[in-house]
Amino acid sequence: MSIKVGIIGAGGMAQYHIAGFKQAGAEILAIADLNEAAAKAAAERYGVEKSFGSVETMFDELPELDAVTIIVPNKFHAPLAVQALNEGKHVFCEKPPAIDAAGVQQMKDAAEKAGKILMFNFNNRARPESFAMREYVENGTIGKINSAQAKWIRRTGIPGFGGWFTNKDLAGGGPLIDLLHMVDLSMYLMGYPEPAYVLGQTFSDFIDDKNYKGPWGIPDAGGPTDVESAAHGFVTFKTGQVLTMQVSWAELVKREEVSVVFQGTGAGGKIERLFGVDGLDETSIDSCELYTQEGGNSVNRSVLTEPCEDMGRSRSAANFIHSITGKEKPINTPDQALSLMKIIDALYESAKTGKPVAC
Ligand SMILES: NC(=O)c1ccc[n+]([C@@H]2O[C@H](COP(=O)([O-])OP(=O)(O)OC[C@H]3O[C@@H](n4cnc5c(N)ncnc54)[C@H](O)[C@@H]3O)[C@@H](O)[C@H]2O)c1
Repeated sequence: MSIKVGIIGAGGMAQYHIAGFKQAGAEILAIADLNEAAAKAAAERYGVEKSFGSVETMFDELPELDAVTIIVPNKFHAPLAVQALNEGKHVFCEKPPAIDAAGVQQMKDAAEKAGKILMFNFNNRARPESFAMREYVENGTIGKINSAQAKWIRRTGIPGFGGWFTNKDLAGGGPLIDLLHMVDLSMYLMGYPEPAYVLGQTFSDFIDDKNYKGPWGIPDAGGPTDVESAAHGFVTFKTGQVLTMQVSWAELVKREEVSVVFQGTGAGGKIERLFGVDGLDETSIDSCELYTQEGGNSVNRSVLTEPCEDMGRSRSAANFIHSITGKEKPINTPDQALSLMKIIDALYESAKTGKPVAC
């Protein structure tokens, strides 16, 4: 019997979730959005039978739903996930997991109580490059990753002005919380070690300058722009491993770069996407490389993988369905999401105090 899914939030990411769920054999029964017209329009666009203007109505009218996916502004991830888990549904939730670690803890507790699957859309783990690199971790080629550098940096990539992305109350923060993917991917390759301390700084230059606006988000909505535009940090782990991070929406860098570089005891490596223009994919260059010493020679290997323009988004959604049916292991866990959010909370705290913060 196929898994029956309800979509919560009719924004742009719904197309990838729907594609991935269908690939995995699930049925999409409905789309719910506070904006009922948006739910209806999306349902027509994606060929979904029902649409609702409230999540409660969807749960009342479709008790047969097995699972929901949450694709709404960050502030509502935790309350909606807890509500759905309490209704006995499996939950797939967009990133960031919540606006802080306390929110993730509530979600994790609700999932444990309900005995249901809670997963997050860390879609970059589901890119072909990441699957390939994990193989090299698992077969011992890379050895222990001592150190890694995570970057998602943009020159002119602020998502909208005064829409929810730049509103601290609704988003929880700026690029540090929005572009958390490469920090997550680094930690995934490192074996998700437990964080010890975080030292970091945030900057808010350019955050209200429209010359630094990217092509996403509701533009010029007139709300606050009270989040950071860039963050830099250093994380130590209880295992002795370390991670450096740089994330920005607006910073004077050459081009948009999305990368994890690491130094293992057996091999170093890199997964990288260089965008041609901030946020536009057609001219991007992907690379996946390993660096080893072999018989006295320095050897650089290029790992050739299938092109994946959607950066693993539909594959990640498919993994959620396969995790429910037992065909695959979940590609991420609530404990990992909690560690990640503790690092983000600690970096914001460190930026305020100027001191290293224990996680
Ligand atoms: N994984 C990725 O690559 C990726 C990319 C973009 C966005 N996202 C994430 O997806 C989420 C949504 O972003 P978006 O760009 O689609 O936003 P959006 O603003 O385009 O759409 C959000 C939708 O949610 C609806 N909504 C708001 N609050 C709601 C509630 N309480 N209940 C039901 N519906 C509600 C809004 O009416 C809107 O239609 C965010 O968490 C964002 O971080 C992830």
